[in-house]
Amino acid sequence: MQHRVLSGIQPSGSQHIGHLVGALDNFEKLQHGHQAFYMIVDWHALTSKYEAVEEIWPATLELTACFLATGLDPEKATIFLQSQVKEHAELHLLLSMITPLSWLERVPTYKEKLQNAVADLGSYGFLGYPLLQTADIIIYKARKVPVGEDQLFHLELAREIVRRFNFLFQREVFPEPEAVLTKTPKVPGLDGRKMSKSYGNCIYLRDTNAEILEKCTRQMASDPARVRKTDPGNPDICPVFEFHKLFSDDATLQLVNTECRRAGIGCFDCKKRVAEAMIRRIEPVREKIEANLAHPENIQDVLRDGSNRARKVAAETMADVRDAMKMPTL
Ligand code: TRP
Ligand code: SF4
Repeated sequence: MQHRVLSGIQPSGSQHIGHLVGALDNFEKLQHGHQAFYMIVDWHALTSKYEAVEEIWPATLELTACFLATGLDPEKATIFLQSQVKEHAELHLLLSMITPLSWLERVPTYKEKLQNAVADLGSYGFLGYPLLQTADIIIYKARKVPVGEDQLFHLELAREIVRRFNFLFQREVFPEPEAVLTKTPKVPGLDGRKMSKSYGNCIYLRDTNAEILEKCTRQMASDPARVRKTDPGNPDICPVFEFHKLFSDDATLQLVNTECRRAGIGCFDCKKRVAEAMIRRIEPVREKIEANLAHPENIQDVLRDGSNRARKVAAETMADVRDAMKMPTL
């Protein structure tokens, strides 16, 4: 049997090029040669969006449109919506009975987010966030979970819970899942920090060509030591060069690499080239996203079909789980 791959993304607003290069491209690759499950985690979105629930469904449609536009194929991969597979909630509840509170309290993202978040995250559901994530993964017996580095601790927790479950009920119901990190380097934001909606430093997949050009030429940080056009620059410490590595062809990359160091190219020109390379990559994706969004009923069909397929697998696992935990079937 092909190994099962599973990942989830929160429907929390517009997708940016960090998502494209970091997650979506990787999802696309992994759908070949694996049984891939890609889920939109609308229940997880509730942990921070419980006061803005009306935003979650439109964000779900938009994220699904992005999935399809970046090459995820609903014939190959199971694209589905977490809230449509209620079995995740049952498993979450059962796992909550065997999970020591201290395991959840010591998750580093817990305290960190609790302190920095805009919404009040002092809820029971937020503490259980990584446990619901564990249920999401193991209910499909997924072995590989493509995620960012910030999720490694959640995966470690999932493995610990699997070991505890299998030990307590003396049955190998769940395999231990493993994180797969993408090989692509992190995408910096326009200001050189990590690209993130909360920093306002993103290039979004739905930005127009004019917006991309404007953001690259006017907002993108470059080598701060290069004040005048006649000063030589250093691409190794320049965020613009990172974008060239991700989006430009080899010839442009070489040209910038040599010309920057001998002040043969100006930063404005260099940024304009980066914008052009980005536009070549993003424009077709944007067009597909907009075309998909014009037909929300098709997006809904994809999610419904995918959720039906996912539910079959989840229901099989739950039959095993109830049996292992001596729950009767009446
Ligand atoms: N916590 C993940 C994130 O914020 C989202 C997520 C929820 C997830 N369930 C998952 C990721 C299951 C992988 C597998 O990125
Ligand atoms: Fe950075 Fe390009 Fe300017 Fe060099 S020319 S400092 S790589 S923006």
